[in-house]
Amino acid sequence: MARHAFHGAADRFAVTADFVAERFPDARFVADVAGGQGMLARLLRKRYNIDTDVIDPRGWTLKGVSSQVTEYAAEMAGYYDLVVGLHPDQALRPVVDSARTVPVIVLPCCNFWSADHRLGRAALLAAITDHHGALGGAVESITLSFDGPMNRGLVLLPPPRPPDADPSVPPRHAGRVGEELTGQRLAEVK
Ligand SMILES: C[S@@+](CC[C@H](N)C(=O)[O-])C[C@H]1O[C@@H](n2cnc3c(N)ncnc32)[C@H](O)[C@@H]1O
Repeated sequence: MARHAFHGAADRFAVTADFVAERFPDARFVADVAGGQGMLARLLRKRYNIDTDVIDPRGWTLKGVSSQVTEYAAEMAGYYDLVVGLHPDQALRPVVDSARTVPVIVLPCCNFWSADHRLGRAALLAAITDHHGALGGAVESITLSFDGPMNRGLVLLPPPRPPDADPSVPPRHAGRVGEELTGQRLAEVK
């Protein structure tokens, strides 16, 4: 394999891929939001046979990695079993908002949550925890086994569906089952 230069803890992709597969063994379609070059997506596919799309406007993914060159919006989440935001920068808020409908793993690297408040790492995680908890969702703190401090994050689970929810409307995979995900289709839901 060619050598690629990555900033930060280089093993974060492998460690995160292992965590995804262990924590969500039934996930078949994953969004690697703000995935950069797509190393996490590549590992999820190669090691665990999990279909993974990078969604990142930078458009510099490694060869063979499925990618959508666009800014991420929470409305895209319904196509996936799981949304992962590994150091997602400006995509932090839509990644967290995705947890209204699908499980999310998010490891923020810096404060792209609040423009009004300076938030250190602990305060940032607390703000996201409070936000999602107020929606009725479950929050689990995680520390992954790569070099910190940017190895701390959250697993966010969607709030339970209300009892009066229309049972004919699937909670997620709205257009995904049996359908190839395309840039065109994604553009339609944006
Ligand atoms: C710090 S890098 C992290 C890349 C990769 N996840 C990693 O850990 O190496 C942040 C990435 O966020 C992407 N990004 C910024 N705004 C975004 C948005 N609105 N939607 C999706 N990706 C975005 C950038 O293009 C960049 O690749």
